[in-house]
Amino acid sequence: MPLDQTNMSARFAECFGHSPDWTVRAPGRVNLIGEHTDYNDGFVLPMAIDRAVWIALRPRDDRIVSVYSIDYNQAAEFSLDLIERGQPGWIEYIKGMAWSLQQAGYILKGWEGVLTGDVPLGAGLSSSAALEMAAARAMAAVADIPWIPAEMAKLGQRAENQWVGVNCGIMDQLISAAGRAGHALLIDCRALHTDPTPLPEGTSVVVLDTSTRRGLVDSAYNERRAQCEEAARSLGVPALRDATIERLEQSADAMDPVVFRRARHVISENARTLRAAQTMRRGDPTELGRLMAESHRSLRDDYQVSSDELDAMVESASEHGACFGARMTGAGFGGCAVALVRSEEADDFARRTAAEYEQKNNRTPAVYVCKAADGAEAM
Ligand code: GLA
Repeated sequence: MPLDQTNMSARFAECFGHSPDWTVRAPGRVNLIGEHTDYNDGFVLPMAIDRAVWIALRPRDDRIVSVYSIDYNQAAEFSLDLIERGQPGWIEYIKGMAWSLQQAGYILKGWEGVLTGDVPLGAGLSSSAALEMAAARAMAAVADIPWIPAEMAKLGQRAENQWVGVNCGIMDQLISAAGRAGHALLIDCRALHTDPTPLPEGTSVVVLDTSTRRGLVDSAYNERRAQCEEAARSLGVPALRDATIERLEQSADAMDPVVFRRARHVISENARTLRAAQTMRRGDPTELGRLMAESHRSLRDDYQVSSDELDAMVESASEHGACFGARMTGAGFGGCAVALVRSEEADDFARRTAAEYEQKNNRTPAVYVCKAADGAEAM
């Protein structure tokens, strides 16, 4: 059954014996291009997808936050006056968000809610950012806090970095907070400026989950971040956003060759992302697809965050006549690829690409034809 406000209200009533005051929704995301650029103050071009985390809720008179997770069939609660870290699990994202909002000086109020979602977990579609932004939207609704997407995204990132302990950039929270239906957002991760960019007419975005998950993502991610910082230092710029390819090439002799390649990916990816946004405004899917394919090669060869399965998926996808371009998406090492395809043939593309991947890799992928959705909302 698709999730909607009516279903959520019914589930809330089953749990708490009355109707909720609000239902909030915050979406997952897929990034079209601009990978590993957000923590370099650069540009990204993600879209919010039609898969989300939902919370139906009602304020309480005390300072307790009490939540029942439908998907885990599990209840958890905590007091806003004493937020303590617990075992890893879904409630930690809600606690982390409450902690971060209170650290920033917001006065919160207690609430009770039911929680569910259909963003696949651990697939690289930002289920955790969606949960953080849904929790933020819930707490904003109850405590009458104005919804300023960039501010809420920053506090969500802080919860993820400092409470959950994952050193992510700003992209996932910001697109979940600020997404726009039918559009990707060109995000300037330094200014936190978002610019809605329409999907080319007649195209669909297909997410192709390789069904592989890599444990080493965290350490590899932090290593890439450190290499980027080293590159920026040796180029004498605040962040790789400020460097050019010419400048990088002039400094090549003085740089570690691996660090050089990492920087070449980030600098060229920023340029590709800006070009991709222009291309979308012109409504040119062919050029956008070409840029996506180039992005994949750069991530595979220079940034080295792809995997055999991701490469195989991108190859299978690119062979289909309806595909304009495909690439790995998200942090890498496993998870999903994304493809831009002709809408009329999207279902055939999904079926055939999945079958070919399965046959060659002996693994069953999950495939989602996605619609670009609005960001977090309270209804
Ligand atoms: C993860 C992080 C994002 C971003 C991407 C790579 O999804 O959460 O902040 O760095 O990896 O582009």
